[in-house]
Amino acid sequence: HPSALLSFSLSRDIMSIPSSLTLDSLPSGVRSFVDKWSEHCTPEGVHVCDGSDEEDGALLQLLVEKGSITPLSKLEDCFLCRTKKADVARVERRTFICSPTRGGAKPTPSEGIKSKLGHWMQPDEMDALLDKDFAGCMKGRTMYLIPYCMGPLGSDISKIGIQLTDSAYVVVCMRKMTRMGASVLQALGEGDFVRCLHSVGVPLAPGAPDNDPWPCNPEKITIAHFPQRREIKSFGSGYGGNSLLGKKCFALRIASTIARDEGWLAEHMLILGLTNPQGVKKYIAAAFPSQCGKTNLAMITPTLPGWKAELIGDDIAWMRFGPDGRLWAINPENGLFGVATGTNMKSNPNAMKAVSKNTIYTNVALTSDGGVFWEGLEDETPPKLGITSWLGVEGWEKLPAAEKKANPAAHPNSRFCTPTVQCPNLDPDWENPSGVPIDAILFGGRRPKTIPLVFETFSWEHAIYVGLCLRSQSTSAAADHKGKKIILNDPFAMRPFFGYNFCQYMEHWREMKQRPGAKLPKVFHVNWFREDAEGHFIWPGFGDNCRVIDWILRRCDGEDIAQETPLGLTPKPGTIDMEGLGPVDMEHLFDFSKADLEQETAEMEVYFSEQMPGQLPDFLQQELQSFKGRIAAM
Ligand code: PEP
Ligand code: NA
Ligand code: MN
Repeated sequence: HPSALLSFSLSRDIMSIPSSLTLDSLPSGVRSFVDKWSEHCTPEGVHVCDGSDEEDGALLQLLVEKGSITPLSKLEDCFLCRTKKADVARVERRTFICSPTRGGAKPTPSEGIKSKLGHWMQPDEMDALLDKDFAGCMKGRTMYLIPYCMGPLGSDISKIGIQLTDSAYVVVCMRKMTRMGASVLQALGEGDFVRCLHSVGVPLAPGAPDNDPWPCNPEKITIAHFPQRREIKSFGSGYGGNSLLGKKCFALRIASTIARDEGWLAEHMLILGLTNPQGVKKYIAAAFPSQCGKTNLAMITPTLPGWKAELIGDDIAWMRFGPDGRLWAINPENGLFGVATGTNMKSNPNAMKAVSKNTIYTNVALTSDGGVFWEGLEDETPPKLGITSWLGVEGWEKLPAAEKKANPAAHPNSRFCTPTVQCPNLDPDWENPSGVPIDAILFGGRRPKTIPLVFETFSWEHAIYVGLCLRSQSTSAAADHKGKKIILNDPFAMRPFFGYNFCQYMEHWREMKQRPGAKLPKVFHVNWFREDAEGHFIWPGFGDNCRVIDWILRRCDGEDIAQETPLGLTPKPGTIDMEGLGPVDMEHLFDFSKADLEQETAEMEVYFSEQMPGQLPDFLQQELQSFKGRIAAM
């Protein structure tokens, strides 16, 4: 790296980072976008990112010199970043959908009840508020212009965004998470793009040193979406979900609105290819709330002999009708921004291999041999190693067990940021511009009781009802004050990610079926998390989940292996392949009483009447009534 980098006075950031692009080379639409905001945010200068290795290396070097990231000597091209304590996760209460009307953003809850389906602010009001925050907010800093593409470059399904940011951490992460750089600008030409503006919100006074390794402005965090203008503005946070605007903000919130307008689906789903021992390949998409093992399923190592599982994506699916009337899915992302905690050689060996090089770790712990540690890596970590916690506490390994539990080495939401191509189980078609055809959609949650291991829905409308009723037990990170775990509604696993009114979203799902010639996938619900009386998981999970997928894919072939229950179609006894598995209490895994289902529907009816009184689409009212009829007949 050029030695000029050693003097990193701010005005020199730009000069020290190479790029083949200048402002003058930009398409005119991009140029007027960047001119407008650089005048308003008043950075020292603008760097147009070309996405080259040289640029990436110089930015990483700059971040190291500023103390924002630390190289990990044990791992090739890996870095550790520690954020501030107040900037470690997505901030839902400050995430807004700014559509012209409140009703365009979310259902209206009943009097005195807070909406759990999103936050709205009038667009002009939000613009006025943010205009003030963004005024001069990049003083003393560099504005980076990131041209990026969600989806394979050149695919009809892909979409381009331009992000302006004053965070070099965001640039190096966006380079892994998206296709980024000069080729994107070339593909864009004078075409349309999603406008993304981001600032950590910490201007520097003239001559003030840039010595804060993680600048952020937590009191002022705002993540605003303007779906009608295809625009995103994010202020105050450097954390991934708030700052890497291609991911949740664009690929889910803005894209779900575009998808509604254009007749497709943007969903919080993994995409996975599965080849059975006969060599027949099928694809599934699956939606689970955060921390239900979505990344683990996306990278599954099947335990059934002869099966192969290949990854397309671990978080987001864009699904469109192909000429054959089937749904074809692409993964709009280029990288994984996965939760590190709990990842190990048993739960996800493929992820462990993927993150062994060229990875940016955020808020994990550091080992004395220059490696990483987090809760779940105990078996992989020699006991003699020293551990420095994500908060910088050295000698963490010597703390008494109770203190370790109260102050984990890694933040529970610690993350790895890694290019998808580093996954050993990558599907050869993962960048196919046409996508891959989806045979089955899975919904799932963390349900200790009532909900069986797997059931198939009766119809597309019933599938939408099951998506609406998706619920999951809170994980330790989200448990309430008493540490009690509660069951939370997370419809379609999209609760934090809807870009428009959820009731309209369900109508849109229904309309998918009305398209002439539509051949929609079968839809299932799975639950890996059923517990016995002592609170132990009954089902082994992880690689053994392929046994359930095998049953699901055989159902897609029309095999006579299902029986009707009030919830849906469950496996006939003995039809899940248990070869090579120890004893499992299958009866308990599929057990539910009339009283259990009555309670389930009663709780759902409270949810409907609190969160969307009078707004539940008629066809879902009918689904609810038929479900109650089936329960009554038990
Ligand atoms: C994120 O918060 O950056 C993120 C990817 O969210 P989640 O893992 O909850 O989907
Ligand atoms: Na998060
Ligand atoms: Mn996610």
